[in-house]
Amino acid sequence: MTCQINIKTASFALTLITVTVLNVGFCKDTDIDPGKCVVWGPGLNPDVVLPVRYFYIQTVDSHGENINVSPAKDSFKVKITSLEKEYLRIHVPLPLDRADGSLLVRYRLYGSSSKGLKIEVMYEDKPVAKSPYTLKGPVYHEYCDCSQSDVAAWQTIMQCPEQDPQIQADFSLFPSIDLQRLSQEVPLRFAKRGGIIHYTILNNRVHRRSLGKYTDFKMFSDEILLSITRKVILPDVEFYINVGDWPMETRTASDKPGPVPIISWCGSTETRDIILPTYDITHSSLEAMRGVTNDLLSVQGNTGPVWSNKTSKAFFRGRDSREERLHLATMSEKHPELLDAGITAYFFFREREKDLGKAPLVGFFDFFKYKYQVNVDGTVAAYRFPYLTLGNSLVLKQDSPYYEHFYTHLKPGVHYIPVRRNLSDLIEKINWAKNNDAEAEIIAKTSQSLVRDLLQPHRLYCYYYSVFQIYASRQTTQPSVHPDMEAVPQPSDPTTLCNCERRSMEQRDEL
Ligand SMILES: *[C@@H]1O[C@H](CO)[C@@H](O)[C@H](O)[C@H]1NC(C)=O
Ligand SMILES: *[C@@H]1O[C@H](CO)[C@@H](O)[C@H](O)[C@H]1NC(C)=O
Repeated sequence: MTCQINIKTASFALTLITVTVLNVGFCKDTDIDPGKCVVWGPGLNPDVVLPVRYFYIQTVDSHGENINVSPAKDSFKVKITSLEKEYLRIHVPLPLDRADGSLLVRYRLYGSSSKGLKIEVMYEDKPVAKSPYTLKGPVYHEYCDCSQSDVAAWQTIMQCPEQDPQIQADFSLFPSIDLQRLSQEVPLRFAKRGGIIHYTILNNRVHRRSLGKYTDFKMFSDEILLSITRKVILPDVEFYINVGDWPMETRTASDKPGPVPIISWCGSTETRDIILPTYDITHSSLEAMRGVTNDLLSVQGNTGPVWSNKTSKAFFRGRDSREERLHLATMSEKHPELLDAGITAYFFFREREKDLGKAPLVGFFDFFKYKYQVNVDGTVAAYRFPYLTLGNSLVLKQDSPYYEHFYTHLKPGVHYIPVRRNLSDLIEKINWAKNNDAEAEIIAKTSQSLVRDLLQPHRLYCYYYSVFQIYASRQTTQPSVHPDMEAVPQPSDPTTLCNCERRSMEQRDEL
């Protein structure tokens, strides 16, 4: 048993060490016991097909107690190999240190494995928990079009929650959905206002037509719909996705005619749109470790210094997309000891650049050198909010009518500090945080742990599926492929080799 205490753990370990040294003469309490560590997560289940698969490691000491400080840098290693003889490229970056005694392991397959995978998790060359793990094949590449027809089984494998309060609230206004009425009304009312994509999914094949001028963002809705239909069979369904920024349906339940169920990425208290996870978190989850660097998983390993070593100031960098952001920059000049806020690009308020100046860009992970993060809306909800809540900083959130799909789970004062829309109490709130450091830290940790759970990439799939499932169940007429729709093909990648054994097995059972 060694008695190496790495510098990072020193402050935590000090009291325990003294006691242990006196009692038993060596400091096993802070040593990681690889056999007692816990390894879990969807990436250990071959049937959870995701673009980036992931699992977690919790470090545990020899008494079976969780350790809550970082292990020595790069002391955990993970090796993943295919059980086939042929080489399969698998990208496995070093585990991400989540700075609380847990690590996050991600991997991306560049092909499928029919035999399966072997996952070895090592701590200083000793196997961790039940390592090696064998994932019995087939283990499909993300591009395998091998959809599971047993939806309930897929939802169980994905550990989807029974229901989500936001989805329930969104559908409460739409007990029935008349597709004929939508196809008459939606193009007339909404096509001029931006970009609407009219989709029909029939026999699990995606078809669409674009309505309106600004429809480039359909690449994001196409991408996730194709990804879902590769994994599970969607019911036949016909719907409209608004790919613009603003939610659209302003009619209320008492209006005649009533609201229509437009699907959008952002909701507001003034509109009745049904919302989905934003294209930002969806796309970054799909493309993580392949171009995208800021995604919901990578941010978890880049949360800056430990709380006590963060600068006790509020921080903000961003574009000038809303006037309060300019107020923020002005306040920062008056209170440099409390707030470091700057505008990095001018577009909406160009005339303000000469007095406020342009702040240099700061890498996103460097935001977390600061204890407090100011979240001010952009055009709509600031899509950085989920990332900020994951960063082990206290989020000071501007009151806003806009929301994303997971906000219902967060409570002001528990998961963030609310700030008035005109920011008039921001300085007071920053002072509160400085004077109540322990409470501020608890709020930061509470939101981090909730959002880590809620926004796991596999949960995004659950959310999407549930929206389309409920929507489909409310349709009173048959979805149809309209004459001017085009089929959206699945990506073809000859290297992924998918021979959908799961599906052929089911078909055999039916005979
Ligand atoms: C905090 O910062 C100090 C000074 O840079 C450093 O010596 C110490 O190791 C840091 N503490 C932790 C827990 O990282
Ligand atoms: C800010 O908004 C509050 C209401 O939320 C209002 O009482 C206050 O006067 C406003 N302050 C300024 C400077 O506009």
